[in-house]
Amino acid sequence: VTELVDRLEAQILEASPALARLLSPLGRRAAFPPDIPFQAAQAQGTTFNGTIGQITDGAGRPVPLPSLARGLEGLEVSLRDRALLYSPVPGFPELRASWRRRQRRGVSDDRPSTTPLVTVGLTHGLALVADLFGGEDRPIAVPSPFWGNYRQTFELRTGARIVSAPAYVDGRYNCDAMAQALADEPPGRPAVAILNLPSNPGGYSLTRDERGRVIDSLVAVADQRPLLVVCDDAYAGLVYEEAIPSAPVFWDLVGRHPNLVPVKIDGATKEVSFFGGRVGFVTFPFEPGSEVEAALESKLKCLVRAGVGSPVAASQALLLAALENEDLDSEVEAIRLELGRRYRALRDALAGIDRELVSPLPFNSGCFALLELAARAGVTSEALRRHLLDHHDTGVVAIAPRFVRVALCSVAERSLPELVERLMTGVSELAAR
Ligand SMILES: Cc1ncc(COP(=O)(O)O)c(C=O)c1O
Repeated sequence: VTELVDRLEAQILEASPALARLLSPLGRRAAFPPDIPFQAAQAQGTTFNGTIGQITDGAGRPVPLPSLARGLEGLEVSLRDRALLYSPVPGFPELRASWRRRQRRGVSDDRPSTTPLVTVGLTHGLALVADLFGGEDRPIAVPSPFWGNYRQTFELRTGARIVSAPAYVDGRYNCDAMAQALADEPPGRPAVAILNLPSNPGGYSLTRDERGRVIDSLVAVADQRPLLVVCDDAYAGLVYEEAIPSAPVFWDLVGRHPNLVPVKIDGATKEVSFFGGRVGFVTFPFEPGSEVEAALESKLKCLVRAGVGSPVAASQALLLAALENEDLDSEVEAIRLELGRRYRALRDALAGIDRELVSPLPFNSGCFALLELAARAGVTSEALRRHLLDHHDTGVVAIAPRFVRVALCSVAERSLPELVERLMTGVSELAAR
């Protein structure tokens, strides 16, 4: 295994010295061992396959219990069979190829991307990246407020250190937030930046101009240090304003700077409205079939095997069938249009609120809107959250000290004005105390 570890590191170093320097101690050690899944994969298709510990009919097909198989009747037989057996550790090959085609729609051939590796939802993809590139004292730059689970995936689990700067300054998106967050790190120290657009909790996507400025800012950081940019594309495509580009920024970062390595985390959770399916993907900016792709895949497969064994086969089978269905795009578009109506209903309801008490931060995409309670009103978001629960039959998320997140994706269009009214009544009641 030591030999394998050394070979993987040499392959990564050859393709990207910056990425080799970004590896955590765990990332360095990880290598897919040549044990059962490895040997079973090599034996696939043999007539007498006595490798893997799964119950089959002796010829490779599952022995499903009728009560279980009934639930999968909508799948054609071969896919149903695969739903009932172990998935390959990196995921179903056809699903990986199909998702890659979907990711690359409208992307030019000069932007390489690996065959995405399947994870158990995006959270798992982020955790794998945290394992490979986080670790003790590694700075992780992310604009505030951010999706709080980054603290668990990067900081709690790996000992990395989240550093931050405000995501909004004077009511506008702060394009230099990540550079500012890393400003005190000594030059040369490798760092990670998390770029989550459309954002959670902000519901924000960059304008064309801001996109250029964010990229320039990240490139300037990469002049000083190896920089892994984790593109958390959970809400990709959910953009509601024509003037706002919806293509993931990941593609604009590919090949921009030798010290800047973007990694794309995306998946079916929100993009295909398959929340319970837990199918995510990790994609690197390298050619499929390259040595560096194989080296990174070996490390990821090792960590997948160590953590969850293999990804869920049943939900991969359902997703693969959906991706092969020609109606899928129009179904996804119908959801985007519905969320667009909710977005406009919320935007309009917020247009008339008392800015002395609450300021909506700019939002144009995704699933959320973020509101900031005025400091002079003396109301914390947690006090408001509890008050709305106790007295107004209304739930929102409090982000300390004075941010409130409204999930427009989970409230009916017609209910959003009422939600805003209740929220404002609650703020007024608390401010008057
Ligand atoms: C920004 C962001 N990243 C990742 C995730 C996790 O996605 P999943 O549910 O697929 O693990 C979420 C879910 O809320 C999210 O908002």
